Amino acid sequence: MDKLNVAILGSTGYTGIELLKILDLHPGVVIKFIGSNSLNKAKAKNLFSGLKNYSDLVIKHNSQISSTKNIHLVFSCLPHGELSKNYKKYKFNKNIMVIDLSADFRLPANLNKKWYRGNRDINVYKNFQYILPELNSKELDKNKNIANPGCYATSIALALAPICTLINNEVIIDTKSGVSGAGKSSKLEHIFNEANENLSLYNVGDHRHTPEIQNLLKKNYKISLNIDMVPHLLPITRGILSNIYINFKVTQSENKIRKYFKEFYKNKKFIKILNNDLPSIKDVVNTNNCIIGLKKLPNSKNFIITSVVDNLIKGASGQAVQNMNLLLGFPEDLGL
Ligand SMILES: NC(=O)c1ccc[n+]([C@@H]2O[C@H](COP(=O)([O-])OP(=O)(O)OC[C@H]3O[C@@H](n4cnc5c(N)ncnc54)[C@H](OP(=O)(O)O)[C@@H]3O)[C@@H](O)[C@H]2O)c1
Repeated sequence: MDKLNVAILGSTGYTGIELLKILDLHPGVVIKFIGSNSLNKAKAKNLFSGLKNYSDLVIKHNSQISSTKNIHLVFSCLPHGELSKNYKKYKFNKNIMVIDLSADFRLPANLNKKWYRGNRDINVYKNFQYILPELNSKELDKNKNIANPGCYATSIALALAPICTLINNEVIIDTKSGVSGAGKSSKLEHIFNEANENLSLYNVGDHRHTPEIQNLLKKNYKISLNIDMVPHLLPITRGILSNIYINFKVTQSENKIRKYFKEFYKNKKFIKILNNDLPSIKDVVNTNNCIIGLKKLPNSKNFIITSVVDNLIKGASGQAVQNMNLLLGFPEDLGL
């Protein structure tokens, strides 16, 4: 197997470090560049002491990517807005593939402007495609860059996709994330004293991943859902649990819907459908899996679909590597 040279921009953040850990052991790549704005000249082992192959790799300033030769693929783990702002400065040659973990290239122009106040170069945007592998990898264009999906969007879209055309279109999603979902930000609500032994809500009905989920389902399944998303901050480091409350247009049995999910995700290595139970976050931490369970609620026509992912792996860096594997023609689960 020919190895490819890869770079990580924003390697010092939570998703960057997770990517470094995965790529350290990935047999198809060589890590040639790890970037940071503040920590350049330190070594990779300062980010994670357990690295096997790249402990002594020196961190460079992100901007030095523009003068680094022989890079085949760049992962960008920068905060929202940074990659689109610096795209031209980084001078990626046209053969370099980019996988962006931020939201910069996920949404079409009107939605990007509304939800992120984003202002992108249209010529850069048109070379990006949004790929959530289990749902739309058939559309993958190997000549285009990838906008990697958001963490909540991954857990929710995977749970809605199999049944979205069968349900009434009012959907309530109660979803909870560990604190690493916010990155290394130092907002008061994310520090230990505030988050620990607490459960709080934020961005109720107004979360930026809502249009991402709606846009994906509309494009793939021609369905417009009204989604009320109710996010919570959980006092744990990593993991997302989403409870999705739905009812079907026509009465359905739990068994039939479960079979439907199993058929939909047949041969998808990272998706597991439970037989009776509902999943917990601990079932997926440190894995690229999404586990889904469902129950018909006894006192109404409603169903609950529960989905769990590790926000830093299936919700970010693991999925980015899965997308890289698809883009480069490696087995989808290589290194994962
Ligand atoms: N955390 C998650 O669960 C998750 C899931 C899916 C997607 N994402 C997305 O992935 C991207 C990275 O997320 P993350 O959680 O890894 O973020 P993070 O922990 O905050 O890391 C971002 C890194 O980017 C670097 N950086 C470069 N320019 C910066 C600037 N102007 N302001 C602040 N930092 C700057 C920082 O390192 P230096 O100071 O060393 O340069 C920082 O360590 C974000 O766009 C996020 O939305 C995150």
